[in-house]
Amino acid sequence: MARIPEHDPARRPRVLSGIQPTSGSFHLGNYLGALKQWVALQETYDAFYCVVDLHAITHNPPEPDVLRQRTRAAVAQLLAAGLDPERCALFLQSHVPEHTRLTWVLECLTGFGEASRMTQFKDKSSRGNAEHSSVGLFTYPVLQAADILVYQADAVPVGEDQRQHLELTRDLAQRFNSRYGHTFTVPEPVIPKGPGKILDLQDPSAKMSKSLGDAGRVNLLDDPSAVARKIKRAVTDTGTAVHFDPVAKPGVSNLITILAAVTDRPVVDVVADFDGQGYGALKSAVADATVAFVEPFAKRTNDLLADPGELDRILAAGADRAGAVACATVAVAYERVGFLAPTAGRR
Ligand code: TYM
Repeated sequence: MARIPEHDPARRPRVLSGIQPTSGSFHLGNYLGALKQWVALQETYDAFYCVVDLHAITHNPPEPDVLRQRTRAAVAQLLAAGLDPERCALFLQSHVPEHTRLTWVLECLTGFGEASRMTQFKDKSSRGNAEHSSVGLFTYPVLQAADILVYQADAVPVGEDQRQHLELTRDLAQRFNSRYGHTFTVPEPVIPKGPGKILDLQDPSAKMSKSLGDAGRVNLLDDPSAVARKIKRAVTDTGTAVHFDPVAKPGVSNLITILAAVTDRPVVDVVADFDGQGYGALKSAVADATVAFVEPFAKRTNDLLADPGELDRILAAGADRAGAVACATVAVAYERVGFLAPTAGRR
C-alpha cells in the first residue's frame, strides 16, 4: 500500500488557505481576517496559498475576461500584501486538477442534509432563487475541504465566517480516515483573536463583504480619498465615549479593531489613546492609519500588474510545488478507496 510522504513527523507543519477572485479588489475584512495571518505564517510553516478561481464561478459567474483580470489582480494583491514566492507556493486552484479529483471522493462521503446546513450556501442561495442556485454552490464547501486535505494542511488561516466550512473539512477527514485508514491530516482553523470579523461600516450587524453596498466596505485598491470618506461616514453608536464593547457599541468597536490591526497595536492601548476624546477623533485616526496602509499597497499592486509575465512565472512555480504534494495525496486516497492504479503514462 502506498505511503503518504507527508506523514513524516520531521516535516515542518503545513499551512493552506484560499481566497476567491470575486471582485477587482480585496477588502479590509479579507486582509485583517485572513491575509495578514497568511503573511505571518509563511515564515514558520510550509505554506501553500491559492486563488480559488473554481469557487469564483459557483455564484453569479463573471464574464471570462473579467474573471481573468480579477484572478491576476488577486495574485498581484497577495504579493503586494507580503506573500513571498520564495517562502510559499502561490498558485491557482484551477492549475492543480487534484483538487477536483479529490472533491469527487469527498462528495461521496458528504450527506445531502449535511451540505444543506452550510450557512454560506443558505445565505447566497436565499438572496437569489434557491431553485436557480448551481449545484456548484451547493458542493462548494466540499471543494474547499479538498483544497485543504489534498495538502495535508495542519493549519488553515481564515476569518470567523469560514469556521463552519472548516468543521465540515475536519469531519470529512475523520470520516475518510476511519473508513479507509489514516490518510488525511485533520486541520485546525487559525482565526484571529478578538471579535473575529471586520464589520460593514454602514451596517455593523453584518460582516464587511463584497455582497453589501460599497459605502460599508474599504477596498484595498480604493482611492485614498474614498477610504477616508467611507471611514468618516461609518455608522457609530449612541453615546460619545470610545469604549471597546462589541455588543453595546459594535460600530465603534469595529473601528477600534481596524485601528489596532492596521497599526499592529493591542486594543487596550488604542482605546487608552482616546481617553476623553469622542468618535470624531477616533474616525480621523482610523482614516489616517488605513490610508497609510492602502496607498502603498495599491502602488505595489499596480507595479506587479504591469509585469504579467512575472506573475505567470510565479504561478507556474507555485503550481509545480503544489501539484507534487497534491498528486501524492490523491494517489494514496484513490488507492485506499479501491480504484485500480492507471496504466503508466496516465494519471
Ligand atoms: P473569501 O474569498 O470570501 O474570503 C477570503 C478570506 O477573507 C476572510 N474574510 C473576512 N474576515 C474577517 N472579516 C470579514 N468581514 C471577512 N470577509 C472575508 C474569509 O474568512 C476568508 O478567510 N470559502 C473561502 C475561500 C476558500 C478557502 C479554501 C479558504 C476556498 N478554499 C480553503 C481556506 C481554505 C471564501 O469564500 O473566502
